[in-house]
Amino acid sequence: MRNLLKKITHPFLKLGLKLYYSKPRNYCYENVCVKVHPDVFPPHLTLSTKILLDFIKPINLSNKTFLELGCGSGIISLFAAKKGAQVTSIDINIIALDFLKESAIKNQLELTIIESNLFENLTEHSFDYVIINPPYYPKNPKNIKEQAWFCGTNFDYFEALFTQLPNYKIESNSIYIILSEDCELDKIKAIAKKNNLSMKCVSQKSVVKEINYIFIIDKIES
Ligand SMILES: C[S@@+](CC[C@H](N)C(=O)[O-])C[C@H]1O[C@@H](n2cnc3c(N)ncnc32)[C@H](O)[C@@H]1O
Repeated sequence: MRNLLKKITHPFLKLGLKLYYSKPRNYCYENVCVKVHPDVFPPHLTLSTKILLDFIKPINLSNKTFLELGCGSGIISLFAAKKGAQVTSIDINIIALDFLKESAIKNQLELTIIESNLFENLTEHSFDYVIINPPYYPKNPKNIKEQAWFCGTNFDYFEALFTQLPNYKIESNSIYIILSEDCELDKIKAIAKKNNLSMKCVSQKSVVKEINYIFIIDKIES
């Protein structure tokens, strides 16, 4: 779907979308609602967020610890909290976190919200679930908004992520990442492997002719 957004070339449609997203917009899932600032990843059209929400819906999250790495609007974090999880939400985008604090109050749900570049400011190391919807286009982000989309020309985001992630992988927990056929899957898997991590597809969904995959990340036993 991020691919689809890129493919929209009709000038009126492009202008319409730009105008629509020039002010904060609400997004709701199962009676949980967030307000999304224009500088924050929009879950409305980019269906990866909805695919993850549908994926976690049947999971029993009651009293589980849950980390959303790069939470953006925080809709996934809030939904997990509604399902009874103890949720930590981290992002580098302060606007996203400020809006999420408001959304948490409005939904009467509790989250631990931390501004952090990946795991940098996190003191807790053990989470039952870690959910990641990463930026994956290989370009250098020019501003905070673009950090939601671009992982750096040298896949810097994934290099850093997969270096740090082994510290958060224990035998009993589950780490999920969503990626699209539109991104360089082989390159991303190779960076994981370099850090002794495997990525196994556990779910795939085709939306408007684009396949999205959810991978579970495990340590490669030597
Ligand atoms: C594709 S968006 C996903 C947002 C949200 N999880 C969702 O599914 O709607 C990626 C998010 O990761 C955040 N992000 C990018 N680089 C990051 C980093 N180094 N550390 C923490 N968050 C980061 C972005 O600000 C953005 O909110």
